[in-house]
Amino acid sequence: MAANSAEKLIIFDTTLRDGEQSPGASMTKDEKIRIAKQLERMRVDVIEAGFAAASQGDFESIKAIAGVVKDSIVCSLSRANDRDIARAAEALAAAERFRIHTFIATSPLHMEKKLRMTPDQVFEQAKQAVRFARKFTDDVEFSPEDASRSDMDFLCRILEAVIAEGATTINFADTVGYGVPELYGNMLKNVRERIPNSDKAIWSVHCHNDLGMAVANSLAGVMIGGARQIECTINGLGERAGNTALEEVVMALRTRKDYFNFEVGIDATQIISASRLVSQITGFAVQPNKAIVGANAFAHASGIHQDGVLKARDTYEIMRAEDVGWSANKIILGKLSGRNAFKQRLDDLGIALDSEAEVNAAFARFKELADRKSDIFDEDIISLVSDEQQSHEKECYRFVSLSQHSETGEQPVAQVVFSIEGEEASCEGQGNGPVDATVNAIESITHSGAELLLFSVNAITTGTQAQGEVTMRLSKAGRIVNGIGADPDIVVASAKAYLSALNKLQSKSEKLNPQL
Ligand code: KIV
Ligand code: ZN
Repeated sequence: MAANSAEKLIIFDTTLRDGEQSPGASMTKDEKIRIAKQLERMRVDVIEAGFAAASQGDFESIKAIAGVVKDSIVCSLSRANDRDIARAAEALAAAERFRIHTFIATSPLHMEKKLRMTPDQVFEQAKQAVRFARKFTDDVEFSPEDASRSDMDFLCRILEAVIAEGATTINFADTVGYGVPELYGNMLKNVRERIPNSDKAIWSVHCHNDLGMAVANSLAGVMIGGARQIECTINGLGERAGNTALEEVVMALRTRKDYFNFEVGIDATQIISASRLVSQITGFAVQPNKAIVGANAFAHASGIHQDGVLKARDTYEIMRAEDVGWSANKIILGKLSGRNAFKQRLDDLGIALDSEAEVNAAFARFKELADRKSDIFDEDIISLVSDEQQSHEKECYRFVSLSQHSETGEQPVAQVVFSIEGEEASCEGQGNGPVDATVNAIESITHSGAELLLFSVNAITTGTQAQGEVTMRLSKAGRIVNGIGADPDIVVASAKAYLSALNKLQSKSEKLNPQL
């Protein structure tokens, strides 16, 4: 193929569905809308907004996203049954363009042990599901779950049948990350070659990262297997070791276009904003050495490398940091900056607040922060807006103030004031350290009994002046949630994070995992 006639690959983002299936990554409706808007800004082709039949909350989130997203196709997952499919169609009805994604497991292990169905029953159910989904839309995706461990003959039989029923995309799922690039790519190639009507569908790859090969498998699926859609998530978020990372696969395709020769419609300069947003909302920190979006991804620490980069960038850099949206950690605003400068910076960062009232509230928070911290960076603004938007959601607990005392050789004491459904409550606690004392103080009133699974502190920017961003992961009665809080005082950030996690535990979202 001539180098200038590159085909386009479809980028299908499933951060809001498969990403959210990661324990603790559950998001509220408003959070999902914010991520969906960022995905649209990034020009993702298809946004899988959730699994409509999972819960009323999921249904409402998909409906809201279908109402606001105009440029991307909005999609809902559904199991292969009429009820799930009708629910997906109902949630998606308002969308400009929508897709129903239905799936059923096809590997012998899943059919026998999980579904307790015979291959013939699975065959019939898959056909019926696609036929039913086509009543609502002509954009229907079918996934054979655990395809990479399925029997070839059965796969060919079922996929030929669902294409005949009108499935327009076939998604070759490597559900448990078992694939090896060459084998996975060839398996897909063989299936496509053996199915007589395979050219009637677009083929897609969906890979999990259990062996660290999700991106490699996806690219092999494209290059060897002939896939033209890649399913992925921001930061590789997802169950267990996660899914194919959008930022990695997109930048591999762009940076090595000489080899891959495909176009992607993604605006890569939006990648860092998307990564930060997802990390802040879910509380899943990005490891510093993570490709593309890790804090060190473009940092040249060793003397030799720095010298090389100063002489000629491409000695050690194959991509430019600014091409994926990294901006220098520069001081952008301070105490004297006015509302217009603040608003301008929000625009530059691609942050669209819904109303002037929201801009005013965010500006008030900015002023508060600028009183305590002389230099305000982009990262501070992003975190502050996140906090502001979080506080719009219905919360039971809200942080008010904190004082704590710690001294070498003495047990730290914390006094915390927070509101419960609008009523202020004050409490005191002791602990091994100031954070422990703060959590004990809060627990003395809330008696949540939740188990703390993770406590992590990250500096949002550099320097001792930086705000600390704290994540608290709590577990109770089988539910896992993440709370996040940011403040220049990390004990205050911890209190906010703990209260935010308790708020999430309060919301009674009983959610079904589609694959269980
Ligand atoms: O991993 C998987 O098999 C899935 C399907 C539902 C597509 O996420
Ligand atoms: Zn998956």
